[in-house]
Amino acid sequence: MKTGVVFGGSGLIGGTIVNFYKQRRPGIVDMLAPSSKKVSLKNCQDIRNYLLAVKPDFVINAAIANINADPQLSFEVNYVGAINVARAAATLKVPYFFFSSAATLPQGSGLRETDTLPLNAKLSNYAKSKLMAEETLRYMADNEGLDYTCIRLSIVYGNHDHKIQGFHRLLFTIADESMPFLFTNKGTLHSYSNCRKIPYAIHHMFENRQEYSCQTYHFVDPVPVELADLIMTIKSYLQLKSPRKVYVPYSVARTGKKSIQIILRLLTKVGLKASLPPELMFLGAFYRTQTLSSEKLFNSSFVDPMPEETVYTRLPEMIVYYLNRWAHQNLITTFDEKIEFDQQIHEDFKHNPMALLESIHRDATAPFDPDTP
Ligand SMILES: NC(=O)c1ccc[n+]([C@@H]2O[C@H](COP(=O)([O-])OP(=O)(O)OC[C@H]3O[C@@H](n4cnc5c(N)ncnc54)[C@H](OP(=O)(O)O)[C@@H]3O)[C@@H](O)[C@H]2O)c1
Repeated sequence: MKTGVVFGGSGLIGGTIVNFYKQRRPGIVDMLAPSSKKVSLKNCQDIRNYLLAVKPDFVINAAIANINADPQLSFEVNYVGAINVARAAATLKVPYFFFSSAATLPQGSGLRETDTLPLNAKLSNYAKSKLMAEETLRYMADNEGLDYTCIRLSIVYGNHDHKIQGFHRLLFTIADESMPFLFTNKGTLHSYSNCRKIPYAIHHMFENRQEYSCQTYHFVDPVPVELADLIMTIKSYLQLKSPRKVYVPYSVARTGKKSIQIILRLLTKVGLKASLPPELMFLGAFYRTQTLSSEKLFNSSFVDPMPEETVYTRLPEMIVYYLNRWAHQNLITTFDEKIEFDQQIHEDFKHNPMALLESIHRDATAPFDPDTP
């Protein structure tokens, strides 16, 4: 059995990888996922001590600071952390899988792996730190013998996003009926990355190092998706009235965003703290086509395990999953689908917790039998 280490194992992508090795490929890889409390990517010694002690057969970095983190945190976690993991991987001579983002690419259609933005001061902290990490990993491959693969993702969709971000923020905003109109242009296209296919690619790339070493790959569904169409499809699944099919021009959306920012700043003066979703820092991207070419990966030996699956085919299941989740967390009230929960337990928990406690004491507190599988 091999040992893998994934940083960011509690996140959307890292968690999917951990789950893959536990549920779908049990017994092949013992996938360790230290939390940021155990190993912080901000701490070089943490990384060094942990990895040199565990001696994994491969390392995956799916950790990331908050998308709107300040320069220091972005630099320390996304860049220096990524490089320190690479240094440990180079010491151990094991493959290193690094996740990057379409934020390193310009707008445009069919973007190739080589089409990166030039590194410059005006980039967001996130894009800058990712670009710098990509650049240094290339440098380390050339000069330090690092064996790495960079996997560039676009908008990722999948279950178990414990934060509400990216694609799931879009879903949340529609479900919460807080999107009155379309904040995009007609025909604006984007690429989407299917989270549950990612571990298959990692596993294949791990088993075929010669082919995938020191390479960057776009990991996106081959067919781009129109943002407006996706929004209207989600709306129709949810049978909601909003958003209306009215395209808000970018200039109006940008002015609206700035006005709300001023109002929110004023509200803090009277003790109310509220903020806009961090995704709005990418407002411009809602209005610009950015599609990534998946040709390089398609032409490699990796075979898509679920070629028919797209963001559209997964929508019904994801909607049920997230709406249940958000309803349980009291985050949305508009969705009143029956939540599967034993009605008697529900009633007892609400109105008669003593009875519930007694029945649990009677039936469900015996120590586990170690001989029962
Ligand atoms: N989601 C997307 O739409 C998307 C799009 C493009 C690229 N990507 C890339 O995919 C990768 C994974 O993203 P994600 O969406 O899965 O992220 P996520 O759900 O936000 O998870 C972030 C993970 O990073 C960990 N982390 C944060 N600070 C850390 C630190 N100082 N030290 C160690 N771990 C730390 C967190 O661990 P704790 O909970 O233990 O703090 C958490 O497990 C990132 O590289 C991201 O840039 C994602």
